[in-house]
Amino acid sequence: MNRLPSSPFHAQIDWDEQGLPHSRVFDDVYFSDESALNETRHVFIEQNQLQRRFGELDANGRLVIGETGFGTGLNFLCAWQLFAACAPAGARLHFISVEKYPLSPADLHRALALWPQLAPFTDALLKHYVAVHEGFQRFVFDQGRVTLTLLIGDALEQLPLIDGQVDAWFLDGFAPAKNPEMWTPELFAQLARLSAPGTTLGTFTSTGWVRRALKAAGFTMKRVPGIGHKWEILRGVFDAWPADAPAPDTAPPWFARPRTPLTERHALVIGAGLAGCATAHSLAMRGWQVSLLERHAQPAMEASGNPQGVLYLKLSAHGTALSQLILSGFGYTRRLLENLQRGTDWDGCGVLQLAFDDKEAKRQAQLADAFAPDLLRVLEQTEAESIAGISLGSGGLYFPEGGWVHPPALCRWQASHPNIQLLPHHAVLQLQRNDGQWQAWDGEHLLASAPVAILAGAADVRQFAGAADLPLKRIRGQITRLGQTAQSQALHTVVCAEGYVAPAREGEHTLGASFDFHSDDLTPTTAEHLSNLDMLQAISSDLAERLHVGQLLPAQLQGRAAFRCTSPDYLPIVGPVADSRQFAEAYSILAKDARQIPDQPCPWLEGLYINSGHGSRGLITAPLSGELIAAWLDDEPLPVPRSVAEACHPNRFALRNLIRGKLKQG
Ligand SMILES: Cc1cc2nc3c(=O)[nH]c(=O)nc-3n(C[C@H](O)[C@H](O)[C@H](O)COP(=O)(O)OP(=O)(O)OC[C@H]3O[C@@H](n4cnc5c(N)ncnc54)[C@H](O)[C@@H]3O)c2cc1C
Ligand SMILES: C[S@@+](CC[C@H](N)C(=O)[O-])C[C@H]1O[C@@H](n2cnc3c(N)ncnc32)[C@H](O)[C@@H]1O
Repeated sequence: MNRLPSSPFHAQIDWDEQGLPHSRVFDDVYFSDESALNETRHVFIEQNQLQRRFGELDANGRLVIGETGFGTGLNFLCAWQLFAACAPAGARLHFISVEKYPLSPADLHRALALWPQLAPFTDALLKHYVAVHEGFQRFVFDQGRVTLTLLIGDALEQLPLIDGQVDAWFLDGFAPAKNPEMWTPELFAQLARLSAPGTTLGTFTSTGWVRRALKAAGFTMKRVPGIGHKWEILRGVFDAWPADAPAPDTAPPWFARPRTPLTERHALVIGAGLAGCATAHSLAMRGWQVSLLERHAQPAMEASGNPQGVLYLKLSAHGTALSQLILSGFGYTRRLLENLQRGTDWDGCGVLQLAFDDKEAKRQAQLADAFAPDLLRVLEQTEAESIAGISLGSGGLYFPEGGWVHPPALCRWQASHPNIQLLPHHAVLQLQRNDGQWQAWDGEHLLASAPVAILAGAADVRQFAGAADLPLKRIRGQITRLGQTAQSQALHTVVCAEGYVAPAREGEHTLGASFDFHSDDLTPTTAEHLSNLDMLQAISSDLAERLHVGQLLPAQLQGRAAFRCTSPDYLPIVGPVADSRQFAEAYSILAKDARQIPDQPCPWLEGLYINSGHGSRGLITAPLSGELIAAWLDDEPLPVPRSVAEACHPNRFALRNLIRGKLKQG
């Protein structure tokens, strides 16, 4: 494996003579010495009474732990070990931790090797510790029993982005004297915002001003005897938001969580492409029963049916909602792929985006300034050629952790979860709400029913009343399959310009993809194969030669076409669905004054959700969107910042239309 030296983005660590990690930036230790496990257990686990609380969880119960300072993950691993030992089967642990300087994978290996007693948990963390970049990074362990959401960035910037509630806090951000920024009233106000009465807290420090500031934030604090090097430590419990502080911001009603009392954890998911399979899988991992209805004989027969799709990151240097979603989604998909077969189901061979003109080269230089080099870096032409294994017309931007995926393999793996019943040849023609159930009908036949339904049929979601007004557009695209040759085996990485070409999978390269905004016909055309071959020439005439393109007969070119499904702002549409007429009535005041926030709760279509609009990057956005839907449904912390969830929310269009005076009331 290619390993980059750790970049400034990573923690700068010195190892002392005992082999313990020491932070160069903070001049402090990550943990004391061999007694660190006992300290973690005493300070964080016992002060939060986790053994009892894990043991008392319901069969579908969940406990959310929040931490400041993930460091080596030792506290997380200890909490997980205890959870595995004493929580009932079916209960879940959700751990959210914030970290400004994540350890490089090499340093994490070295630090965690100190604790062989945690080996099964450590091994899982290390296996999934890939593509850990800024923002929200979600990990799923133990078939979904344990979720870790790492917020990579400064605690004071990241904590305000969380939409969720924490049951127990671990405050572990180096000593207050060495790192006062982790112990400020602003940060404690965030802890209070995310706490409910009864939320507990443990910290190794007993510093007076920390205790007083936590008290001022609404926690009752108590000094208790410490352990090892600590004479005294603190425990606390949250009482209430302080009466004299202005109330924290809450979401406006159109983005607030629907409070649907759930009678039964059973959902219908309509459509078994990347979006539907991901949603079904995220729910199934949480113990839901899922009926996955698909009109074709098997999953991934439409847009998600290409032999190879690329993990292509179209980022912005300005941290837009889309860029944040892409970075979080890339990390999540990349970790998910660790569960699949490398070589046939996917390959992390890297992705090279060529700097094919000056404008693109400038854009790439800006991205290289904005992001860490282990995510992306600019390559000069000769280095790019040596990594790609072929001659190129320019250098470009290289994503070492990118690669290609066989989307049907990901869909099939997700849909094979035992809690999912895949119903092929089930074309849903009508969806009706009766007696608290969504009923999926095919003309006269009732196909399935459940209290919750998720629309995941790409642009065809508009056939159902709740989604009929969504501005989804279909864009036809065609890929060309090219047989591998002895010479094309040299291609080692995905290369993209206007189109893309991937190293061969099972003897074939995928070359993609055309864009046609007008055609409704999915029969592959020779004209589009030829335009794909033109894109190949533009990527590399050397590769085109290696693939003997000049000798191919146009009429014999093979490939497939499908529809992408995009929204006007290129963000997917993910979340709960409201009744559009009632929405316009309830919030009509916004047409006159867009700053108003009326009291009326949003007129949700109870139990109806959507996961669609993934455009050209479903591999990156659809899996995390499955987690987002599951988080909405199970009232969990969201896997993305609240602002990103709002940017993807189905209500955004109705809201914009209302404000622009375009929505008619019923
Ligand atoms: C040519 C091309 C190249 C692409 N390249 C890439 C790439 O390199 N990287 C990348 O990330 N993305 C790529 N994409 C985009 C990616 O494929 C899509 O974003 C993704 O597949 C969308 O998944 P989906 O589940 O939303 O839609 P789909 O895969 O279209 O799935 C929708 C499913 O719903 C079913 N369905 C619809 N209505 C009903 C109903 N009423 N009843 C029952 N079933 C129903 C359909 O049969 C279908 O199986 C490409 C797309 C195309 C077309
Ligand atoms: C004592 S270590 C945490 C040890 C860790 N809990 C463990 O189990 O290994 C403190 C961590 O806080 C992180 N940190 C310090 N200041 C921060 C900030 N402002 N925002 C986020 N993380 C910060 C450090 O990088 C370091 O990893």
